Amino acid sequence: MVLSRKVPHADRAAQLAVNPMYAGIADVPIPRFDLPDGELPPGLASQIVHDELMLDGNARLNLATFVSTWMEPEAGHLIADTLDKNMVDRDEYPQTAELERRCVNIIARLWNAPEEGNAIGTSTTGSSEAAMLGGLALKHRWRARRRAAGQPEDRPNLVMGTNVQVCWEKFCRYFDVEPRLVPVARDRHHLTAHEAVRHCDERTIGVVGILGSTFDGSYEPIAEMAAALDRLAADGGPDVPIHVDAASGGFVAPFLDPDLHWDFRVERVASINASGHKFGLVYPGVGWVVWRDDHALPDDLVFSVSYLGGAQSTFALTFSRSGAPVVAQYYNFLRLGRDGYRRVQLATRDVARRLAEGIAALDQFTLLTRALHIPVFAFRLADGITNYTVHDVSRALRSRGWLVPAYPFPPDLEDLHVLRIVVRNGFSSDLGDALLQDLREAAAECERQPAPLTVPDPGFHH
Ligand SMILES: Cc1ncc(COP(=O)(O)O)c(C=O)c1O
Repeated sequence: MVLSRKVPHADRAAQLAVNPMYAGIADVPIPRFDLPDGELPPGLASQIVHDELMLDGNARLNLATFVSTWMEPEAGHLIADTLDKNMVDRDEYPQTAELERRCVNIIARLWNAPEEGNAIGTSTTGSSEAAMLGGLALKHRWRARRRAAGQPEDRPNLVMGTNVQVCWEKFCRYFDVEPRLVPVARDRHHLTAHEAVRHCDERTIGVVGILGSTFDGSYEPIAEMAAALDRLAADGGPDVPIHVDAASGGFVAPFLDPDLHWDFRVERVASINASGHKFGLVYPGVGWVVWRDDHALPDDLVFSVSYLGGAQSTFALTFSRSGAPVVAQYYNFLRLGRDGYRRVQLATRDVARRLAEGIAALDQFTLLTRALHIPVFAFRLADGITNYTVHDVSRALRSRGWLVPAYPFPPDLEDLHVLRIVVRNGFSSDLGDALLQDLREAAAECERQPAPLTVPDPGFHH
């Protein structure tokens, strides 16, 4: 289900069931899909909403999501205290704006933006918005170059692997850019330098490199891509910038793989996005995007508004949103520092690697990745298993409370169906051992079935 639809008229009469304890307090019918005529006492309304949510999965056993499911109570209190501050009201909440400014500076340094340069960035609602802003900047820069050279400005394209997160396909469709999707292959589960260059032409606005592929957690080879694009430009080909989608890796690589060159140390990297609410360790929703310098962010994308008090620049797809996630991001930076982030991410990746090795030792599974990069790995069924599928394993795990998604790989590897585990802060090695035991039992249970049972979910959204 993507969009909520209006329910048929007959269903609109459906009413909520109310606990008989509340008889007398709630003796008016409470429609399910219509605004009630009257009021309810706050305690009763809150109890009803609470009860509605009971059937949601347990967030910490949700190994499908990349998004933080645990923060310290102190962070929770700060969030509750600041939910009422609108991030765009910078004049009214100058200190919230100041914390955002500090976060952008901290992140730009973390990603090795040149000290003498003038990197520029903003918070967003998440990596999707951040990616769209990065993509828009690429498109506008390309258009300006073409216009200056007197060349046609139509049919821009963006080169990326079919393993991109859906936000990039959305960007292309919403902003009229051809998605030049390079298929993954049996021996290549993400975009390589060779394939990236092969798909570029003079209408290419940029190449998207992913630091932490959504499908299997692997880093794409950003430095190699940049070197190959350098050669392309040096040989008289187009000069194509890179945007790094570091939604997950942006808060992992700086702490665990500091020698890996993927960030602004690579000259060709124009902009980077990351999700504060993934390995930035903040509850949803906060993302970040940083440009190497103000040349990488064309002026025509930045709006100046005066109706907030003072003249303020904004570059965003949204306007109002709470400042609380930004405050929580700053809290984490202050609370953990470099060492703390390194310790937390290391522990998380260790749990992921240990779990991956445990799964590799089971006869029924073969690892695709082993959490060498972000604390995420994917595995498939061992060759020769035909009486059950990864979808059956996912279902069996779900009956034990674990949410481990099963899904097909993107084109051209749609016949490869995998399970994926995202290990996040708060998932201990004890929980990892419990999951391994349940996976062992789930696989044994599936082995006893004569044929596959579960219809694959065609709509799994990463
Ligand atoms: C590589 C990548 N890019 C972008 C996104 C979208 O991130 P967000 O949920 O912060 O919008 C994700 C989410 O999983 C991702 O893995």
